[in-house]
Amino acid sequence: MVKICCLGAGYVGGPTMAVIALKCPSIEVVVVDISQTRIAAWNSDQLPIYEPGLDEVVKECRGRNLFFSTDLEKHVSEADIIFVSVNTPTKTRGLGAGKAADLTYWESAARMIADVSKSDKIVVEKSTVPVKTAEAIEKILTHNSKGINFQILSNPEFLAEGTAIQDLFNPDRVLIGGRETPEGQKAIQSLSDVYAHWVPKDRIIATNLWSAELSKLAANAFLAQRISSVNAMSALCEATGADVAEVAHAVGKDTRIGPKFLNASVGFGGSCFQKDILNLVYICECNGLPEVANYWKQVIKINDYQKTRFVNRVVSSMFNTVSGKKIAVLGFAFKKDTGDTRETPAIDVCKGLLGDKARLSIYDPQVTEDQIQRDLSLNKFEWDHPIHLQPMSPTSVKQATVVWDAYEATKDAHGICILTEWDEFKTLDYQRIFDNMQKPAFVFDGRNIVNADKLREIGFIVYSIGKPL
Ligand code: NAD
Ligand code: UGA
Repeated sequence: MVKICCLGAGYVGGPTMAVIALKCPSIEVVVVDISQTRIAAWNSDQLPIYEPGLDEVVKECRGRNLFFSTDLEKHVSEADIIFVSVNTPTKTRGLGAGKAADLTYWESAARMIADVSKSDKIVVEKSTVPVKTAEAIEKILTHNSKGINFQILSNPEFLAEGTAIQDLFNPDRVLIGGRETPEGQKAIQSLSDVYAHWVPKDRIIATNLWSAELSKLAANAFLAQRISSVNAMSALCEATGADVAEVAHAVGKDTRIGPKFLNASVGFGGSCFQKDILNLVYICECNGLPEVANYWKQVIKINDYQKTRFVNRVVSSMFNTVSGKKIAVLGFAFKKDTGDTRETPAIDVCKGLLGDKARLSIYDPQVTEDQIQRDLSLNKFEWDHPIHLQPMSPTSVKQATVVWDAYEATKDAHGICILTEWDEFKTLDYQRIFDNMQKPAFVFDGRNIVNADKLREIGFIVYSIGKPL
């Protein structure tokens, strides 16, 4: 029986390994993590992450061929294939701070693998890492190897949160990079055999290590670039009377461009787009390519511009001040169908409004009050650095309250900001909401999900992204 161990029971490690266990009953999969609370949650009925379809997959395999454990050394030493899916955040201090990837967690994982291994292993980079990381990992492993053979593979993950299980069941492609030696090719074959249990062979792509590592950064950069492109157009639409939805539809009908990922928004969020582009920018700078670095930097700049533009629109529409006014924030997660708030645009928008002394009443169906207060108290890039953080006791941001109902959030509010596209926000009783708000009642739709004309009929003043007022 092939044994797989995965270091890191997060948004990637948990769902990815659960699906491997489901699709490969003959393989034993153990997911390990240094966080005891995370592992305890994976072993409970309340999984640590919200992801549609995940509960069912975990229920079917947990205890059969899927296990969650904090005994890292035991399971690493017994495994044939070790996935490393630990966090790779942006560095907050030292060389490359604010741009380069912090590989502390990866390096400590690699050193532990070298320490406890007694048999040959395939070590798989699942985390998103800078191109050439495999070379550094190889050095750490082989210099400490005691004669054991380690093959490093790059197998980046392309799942998106909220659709992770669907994406894993039916991936556009599985990418595996390895050394071009016979041993490297054999390792690629072993990992392909795992995926071949359910992924059609023509979707399993083998490349060299550096192409695989770079393809992951490139894919995220291209995706984020599409959003910044449509968001840049949204500003021009507002200035000219064009409608960004109509422009995106017309542009996306060109089969060379395609219709996906062209929804204008308050800005992209999530743990990876910004982090991975900053990382790409840093690599370009280190390789003496400032023009290429600046090209990609612009994607982040437009995203920041879009968030600032949104805040400015709220303040300027509400007679240039929101001081003391209650503003309801509907949605805090970085997208619908997830409770994840990492780099959510809601953080920047809320901080911007708080900076103008607004009183916020925040509602999100999946995000806890603790999480929101913590997010609003942290500085940029700190969120994914547990070792730099004090044990969780954020000073709560007094002007921001968190409530568990959209009607409560909007009661007596002067304005509403919709920051996540949760389906339930489309079907709220907006007449009831209007009746309970201060007048004039404003709606700022950062996701273009409400029917602006209907809301205007009720009496709201509505601002949508990239649409005529
Ligand atoms: P995460 O923070 O949810 O999970 C990482 C886990 O690794 C944490 O639970 C942490 O405790 C654990 N960890 C850290 N050091 C460890 C060690 N030495 N040994 C064992 N466990 C350790 O992160 P994530 O969202 O799952 O992302 C992981 C990686 O995958 C990142 O590189 C990210 O860029 C990449 N990625 C993420 C997504 C996504 O949608 N979240 C998608 C594709 C790729
Ligand atoms: C993204 C990629 O889609 C995944 O392929 C990749 O594996 C992952 O990053 C990663 O490396 O972490 P994710 O961040 O989970 O996945 O979610 P997306 O659906 O890509 O959305 C990212 C952000 O862009 C969200 O804030 C979303 O609301 C926003 N977005 C997306 C738009 O504003 N407009 C769009 O048209 C699409």
